Amino acid sequence: MNKSSSVKVSAPATVSNVGCGFDIMGFATGIISDEVILKLTDKKGIIISKISGDGEKLPFDVQKNTCTKSIIAMLKSLKLDIGLDVKISKKIGFGSGLGSSAASAVAGAFALNELLGKPLSKYELLNFAIEGEKIASLATHADNIAPCLFGGFVLIRSYNPIDLIQLKPAENLFCTIIHPQLEIKTSEARKILGNTIPLKIGITQWGNVGALVAGIINKDIELIGRSVQDAVAEPKRAALIPGYYDIKNAALETGAKGCNISGSGPAIFAFSDNEDNAWKIGKAMKKVVDKMKIKNRIYVSRINKNGPKIIE
Ligand code: HSE
Repeated sequence: MNKSSSVKVSAPATVSNVGCGFDIMGFATGIISDEVILKLTDKKGIIISKISGDGEKLPFDVQKNTCTKSIIAMLKSLKLDIGLDVKISKKIGFGSGLGSSAASAVAGAFALNELLGKPLSKYELLNFAIEGEKIASLATHADNIAPCLFGGFVLIRSYNPIDLIQLKPAENLFCTIIHPQLEIKTSEARKILGNTIPLKIGITQWGNVGALVAGIINKDIELIGRSVQDAVAEPKRAALIPGYYDIKNAALETGAKGCNISGSGPAIFAFSDNEDNAWKIGKAMKKVVDKMKIKNRIYVSRINKNGPKIIE
């Protein structure tokens, strides 16, 4: 065990799908992070003693909370029966499309690993965090979990067995994010997609996926701009976000190199090649959302190379 009996960890917000990469691509942002404090206690069992910043929406039931669910999965695998007190501080909006449930799940597993003196690698933590997030999205997908845990831009080549590829984006690749303060449940936004896609849609999609990966590794932001397109989820999910295409058009008209739904929304992201433009794009998007009288926030960030951090 670690000398310390308590640890405080933060885990970043992420953008998943990145347009064409439904369930297989995501990146970490530097905009906001969830925080988790884990404390060893004498009494066996896990309790959540505090959740803040969630508007009282998240469950204290440890079997229903993504943070504690990932901790429980990890303890089970390590065959450990210990006492833990968990405090969760939510900074990433619930149902925002910014990987809120994933960040808490990652923070939980990462914090426990620290507390135990790091018996597991990040790769080994991955499945516990995926297990935790499943509670929220009712599906197994790692496109928020993986970038949250590893930082940077991550491609998931395969789920079985899990095979992740970390891509190195250009330093001047900036991301603008607008978060209209509405809530979309990932589980609901997945239901509307169905289970099959026509071959033609597949051809469009995998052309873009390949080109987006090439754009990232070749640091070709124009190619990234052409490839951030989605023929699978965006056409169906756009209807869940009021004024989505107007917001997207405002971003593209202001020079964005691609714009799409972040995860299952309602957050929307846009790329650009410098910070000034990134803010201009944000203001243009904001104007559209303000007009609809929907509360919103804009953020600008480089791709965040870091995963979770130990704060204390
Ligand atoms: N790939 C997932 C989805 C991400 O789009 O449903 C959810 O945040």
